[in-house]
Amino acid sequence: MAIIAPSILSADFSNLSQQIRLTEMGGADWIHCDVMDGHFVPNITIGPIIVKAARKCTKLPVDVHLMIEKPDNFLEAFAEAGANYITVHVEEVVHLNRTISRIKELGCKAGVVVNPATPLDRIVDIAEYIDLLLIMTVNPGFGGQKFIPNSIRRIEEAVKLRTKLKANYLIEIDGGVNKETIVASKKAGVDVFVAGSAIFDADNITAATAELKNLVK
Ligand code: DX5
Ligand code: ZN
Repeated sequence: MAIIAPSILSADFSNLSQQIRLTEMGGADWIHCDVMDGHFVPNITIGPIIVKAARKCTKLPVDVHLMIEKPDNFLEAFAEAGANYITVHVEEVVHLNRTISRIKELGCKAGVVVNPATPLDRIVDIAEYIDLLLIMTVNPGFGGQKFIPNSIRRIEEAVKLRTKLKANYLIEIDGGVNKETIVASKKAGVDVFVAGSAIFDADNITAATAELKNLVK
């Protein structure tokens, strides 16, 4: 299985509905929303009202990536806005088991995110409870960055960990995913590919989405 999840971070927000539609025509499977608060990461982007707007534009699963401090304070708001997946950063959550349970109570699939230098052993004791593991392949905060090369080893480690722990999480990557990096990532074991600039900065959004999809089908 290979899921293409365009990140609206790089979309033209004056035309969000049309931009999402163009990715759907190219075979997009999920829509990824990068929420940033200017504290956890050095950038401010979108909140629940934009997730709600994206929800109205698509029937695809909406995958909300919370790059924010104190995500526990906002779980209800993003669930009400229409999130299907909510992922929180392990670096930011003290009571992670409680947070994951709360996301599920709200009817969403639950995921954890690890920054590029966060060891994967941080997720060993939550692995069996999560639906999604997001491995950041850039330092979070901005689109258009370069894929961090040791991510391939980390993806392979996450696959081994999933087998060892008899867990079921999907493995997602986010950052620097493009036609040069997606094939090796798929080979390493990625299930879900977030791509922002590779899709929305392309001349033809539909064709760019389809090209990524074809490279990993
Ligand atoms: C990082 C963001 C980006 C975005 C994808 O904070 O999460 O990784 O989703 O950006 P691109 O695909 O342009 O690297
Ligand atoms: Zn993201």
